[in-house]
Amino acid sequence: AAPTTTPETGTGVFSKTRARISERTLRTDRWWVPPLVTVLGLGAFVIYATIRSYVRTAYWVPDYHYLTPFYSPCLSTSCVEGASHFGTPFGDLPTIIPLGFVVLPFLLGFRLTCYYYRKAYYRAVWFSPPACAVAEPHAKYTGETRLPLIIQNAHRYFFYVAIVVSVINTYDAAVAFHGKDGGFGLGLGNFVLWLNVILLWAYTLSCHSCRHIAGGRLKHFSAHPVRYWFWTQVSKLNTRHMALAWTTLGTLVLTDFYVMLVASKTISDLRFIN
Ligand code: FES
Repeated sequence: AAPTTTPETGTGVFSKTRARISERTLRTDRWWVPPLVTVLGLGAFVIYATIRSYVRTAYWVPDYHYLTPFYSPCLSTSCVEGASHFGTPFGDLPTIIPLGFVVLPFLLGFRLTCYYYRKAYYRAVWFSPPACAVAEPHAKYTGETRLPLIIQNAHRYFFYVAIVVSVINTYDAAVAFHGKDGGFGLGLGNFVLWLNVILLWAYTLSCHSCRHIAGGRLKHFSAHPVRYWFWTQVSKLNTRHMALAWTTLGTLVLTDFYVMLVASKTISDLRFIN
């Protein structure tokens, strides 16, 4: 690159101690494609999830006991009859509050502080930096040492809540083996719900915090065979964490969409038993 006339008083990558390059990047490939795809994917999910969390319709199928994960657990008297598997300790909620309000902030916190999603939105949304070897527009860098980004360090606590939520979703999927005439039933919806739950478990257990909780700080793996075994399994899953992060966004939407179609009687569930 040609030497530049960047002022000596510049900040960030244009500060005195940095190489004098005037271009924001010397990359000639289409480095902006991954951040663009990321922002479109995350944006689409956020819009869909926000709308569905607020509409308060078609989230429960009374005949087959299908409940969408966006409304689980449904703990308010505003929930439709049958949808509250864990009682209704909360009274009627104003429409400004989603019926899944107990867990939605934690699930959002879990994903927002996830190591993979951080990489995704630091690049795609904050351009910090947008790609390898592409200068960021910010003059200063304080990392995750101050508010609000210091909250990223709470990821492990969001992980604990995510485990509880996965248990609740598993319970929802189990009670959904319900037939129209009572008793056991099986339909396509059960496969959709279970696919989602299994992948949610895979995403949750593949978490970097989970891996550290399982095997971090151990000096002698041989003295902790069970934790070592668990750490080995989590490590295998962990290599797929990014793929699971995206796949579970897809299965959450698919599950909610399917429940919505059946609950609104737009389609009927394909039934195999009862
Ligand atoms: Fe992604 Fe924990 S690192 S969920």
